[in-house]
Amino acid sequence: MNVGVIGSGGREHALVWKLRQSPSVEKLYAVPGSAAMADLAECVPLPVSDLAGITDYAVRQNIDLLVVGPEVPLTEGIADLAEEKGIAVFGPSKAAARLEGSKSFAKMLMKKYGIPTADYESFTDGAAAKAYIKEKGSPIVVKADGLAAGKGVVVAMTTAEALAAVDAMMEDKIFGDSGGRIVVEEYMSGEEASILAFVDGETIVPMPAAQDHKRIFDGDKGPNTGGMGAYAPAPAVTEAIYEEVTERILKPTVAALAAEGILYRGCLYAGLMLTTEGVKVVEFNCRFGDPETQAVLPLIDGDLAEIMYACAKGKLDAAQVRRHDGAACCVVMAAAGYPESSHRGDVINGLDKAAARKDTVVFHSGTAVRDGAYVTSGGRVLGVTALAGSLREAVDKAYAAVGDISFNGQQVRSDIGKKGLDHLQ
Ligand code: AMP
Ligand code: GLY
Repeated sequence: MNVGVIGSGGREHALVWKLRQSPSVEKLYAVPGSAAMADLAECVPLPVSDLAGITDYAVRQNIDLLVVGPEVPLTEGIADLAEEKGIAVFGPSKAAARLEGSKSFAKMLMKKYGIPTADYESFTDGAAAKAYIKEKGSPIVVKADGLAAGKGVVVAMTTAEALAAVDAMMEDKIFGDSGGRIVVEEYMSGEEASILAFVDGETIVPMPAAQDHKRIFDGDKGPNTGGMGAYAPAPAVTEAIYEEVTERILKPTVAALAAEGILYRGCLYAGLMLTTEGVKVVEFNCRFGDPETQAVLPLIDGDLAEIMYACAKGKLDAAQVRRHDGAACCVVMAAAGYPESSHRGDVINGLDKAAARKDTVVFHSGTAVRDGAYVTSGGRVLGVTALAGSLREAVDKAYAAVGDISFNGQQVRSDIGKKGLDHLQ
């Protein structure tokens, strides 16, 4: 079949890399893709916001399956549009993507169907939100309802911080319309993990559990980023927890949506908090995670295009999704200034040396080619990923390859995977 992947980051590089290995894939396109994907797929220079342009292109090129990386085209309805034009899509409809696109919708659904998550209230009135915060006290969490590029959450340790967050979101509108409604929720403590699942509307097949590292500095210090590294499987997610998430969160969520008349097809990403009272949902995403994908996909055995096509057609069979033994670790190399800014144009050295290592892949998140050489061109630049028999080896191997690569001002956490290794001790 002919397959098109929408997006240009490290997650999409990993998707294209894995799909290229699918025996069922003939032509592979990446829209818009990136310089690093050009060896694996034909890059099509259309912006991900051009839903009509992308779906028309897919019709013209006889693309059988569109795989959507980022959330924005999904929340804007690219899956609905593609289906109207007769193209199978891996990714939920606009209605189903509200699970990520509207936090109040996701919370309402979880509350109505008894899916474990933090207690909450949603507000369109700032004064009411503030009164609620004063009544509940701190710590407390304030979230913009809509998409905010991962920045719409304030975990407030004091009431004053929470009240300031309400003003910033509702009055100063720092996230635009996304903050017209806010969710105020109970603070949860525990270790975080994420489980991504293939979903065909009914059948769900979870992938190995992963852990992201959101803060820029070692020891989870400093500002939040898009994610500085990931590894899988996460030992914090024991077999019992995995089962609990499958039975009490993933299956009930897909069933709850179905009961509301909404079919969920694609990747369902559950962001989880492992609390002392059991696992609770922090958030849902309607797509693959970045950089979780870079660590999870290398562990999947099976024809990814067939799996995704089956999801799109409501015919997923759990036997299609097999797993490699061992573990994978992805260490992100970020640009100078990230996450506040990102210095562009710094020459990246050592990519060939790293790529020559066995079971090691360098996924590009933000690079460009200038005068025949790769240079930085985004906040997160590379996701250096290694697959090995154990987490210890995967971490060591990934860092060995990171050691081959250098660019001016590079920022790399040195403790990716440490939490997992601590669990194993
Ligand atoms: P989200 O964008 O919803 O994933 O939130 C970003 C981060 O905020 C999460 O990864 C958590 O670390 C933190 N967070 C979100 N909700 C809560 C909560 N209710 N309690 C504690 N931390 C939270
Ligand atoms: N790594 C977190 C996300 O993709 O949302």
